[in-house]
Amino acid sequence: MTRKTISILGATGSVGSSTLDLVERNPDRFEVVALTAAKNVVSLADAALRTGAKLAVIGDPALLPELNDRLAGSTCRAATGSDALAEAASGEAELVMAAIVGCAGLEPVMAAIEAGRTVALANKESLVTAGELMTTAAETHGATILPVDSEHNAIFQCLAGNHASDISRLVLTASGGPFRSLSRDQMAGASPDQAVAHPNWSMGAKISVDSATMMNKGLELIEAHHLFGLPSGRLDVLIHPQSVIHSMVEFVDGSVLAQLGTPDMRIPIAYALAWPERMETPAEKLDLARIGNLNFEQPDLTRFPALDVARQAMEAGAAAPVVLNAANEVAVAAFLEGRIGFLAIVDTVKEALARMDLPKPQSIADVIDIDRRTRALANDLMSEMAA
Ligand SMILES: NC(=O)c1ccc[n+]([C@@H]2O[C@H](COP(=O)([O-])OP(=O)(O)OC[C@H]3O[C@@H](n4cnc5c(N)ncnc54)[C@H](OP(=O)(O)O)[C@@H]3O)[C@@H](O)[C@H]2O)c1
Repeated sequence: MTRKTISILGATGSVGSSTLDLVERNPDRFEVVALTAAKNVVSLADAALRTGAKLAVIGDPALLPELNDRLAGSTCRAATGSDALAEAASGEAELVMAAIVGCAGLEPVMAAIEAGRTVALANKESLVTAGELMTTAAETHGATILPVDSEHNAIFQCLAGNHASDISRLVLTASGGPFRSLSRDQMAGASPDQAVAHPNWSMGAKISVDSATMMNKGLELIEAHHLFGLPSGRLDVLIHPQSVIHSMVEFVDGSVLAQLGTPDMRIPIAYALAWPERMETPAEKLDLARIGNLNFEQPDLTRFPALDVARQAMEAGAAAPVVLNAANEVAVAAFLEGRIGFLAIVDTVKEALARMDLPKPQSIADVIDIDRRTRALANDLMSEMAA
């Protein structure tokens, strides 16, 4: 078997580490070309040495000397800066795992797409903020986008062998997060530790808080809209606390296909890594008899307004999804640092959307500019609210 060459952007994060785990268990299938991180120089260097990567890129330039020291005597080149990140994304690897968190992922994802690579896309911000730009570029450059987010990966799996024109609706399942049964009053006093304690999934802090507000599901609606080309009215959200069904596709004939599995990100990651084949994973196998019951309920938009706010941003289009995403990132960071309360996250996003009325971004540079302006506004709004 010829080995698939792979670069992992964001190799030290939650998705990045799970990807490395799978790649390192299958040295006969994968050859690592490049790895990147922002600051975690120790893990980056260790992974580069273990996998025999040719390039290791660290985001923080002050850490380049340490990376060089740690890689001394190996054949791995240490680098920093946006050109090096673009090289990791668009270099010789056939498959690029895009697992950087936030808008920092946009430029490298676009570089991989413009180089016509297969992109395993975990960085949901790419589709949320620049969905049309990314999908159009993928068509132009013959790139393939494989969704890694478990819901979109589930839908992608259900669509195999089917025609997109036969879809009647997509149903994104949501666990409801750690605050599924809490009142708004109870949520008001929630701490960062409580918000990141997701009942089913082990994930990075930012996305865990997004699950608690349900903004994550709102971002995923926008992601699904761009990946599968369906309008808001044909995208539904269903609360399913066990996180066993990862999403469903309803077809015009009334058939519903679902993808099931234990909540372990290594399953959707493995699907993207091995696609169009499959590979073994160490994930626990699903035992439905032990689980017993699968439950479903409608989302409560009064207790979780983020879902509606995100849907409205999707329907408004133009710059609204960029504003939604940027204001949310800033507010989640402030919440994690203890600067604002839990309910103020979505209040900040709503207010930012009300105040920012900008034209549709025409390029990634436009998206990054709107993102930067929104961050400044969101910080001002949080100071106003605190005063
Ligand atoms: N975690 C999940 O289960 C999950 C599920 C579905 C989708 N996603 C999506 O996947 C993406 C990654 O999530 P995650 O949970 O893996 O995040 P994470 O654990 O926070 O890891 C983020 C990765 O990106 C790197 N990074 C952060 N800021 C950067 C910057 N400015 N420039 C370059 N690299 C940067 C980090 O490096 P350092 O370690 O050096 O900081 C780390 O390698 C997100 O878009 C998330 O929404 C995640």
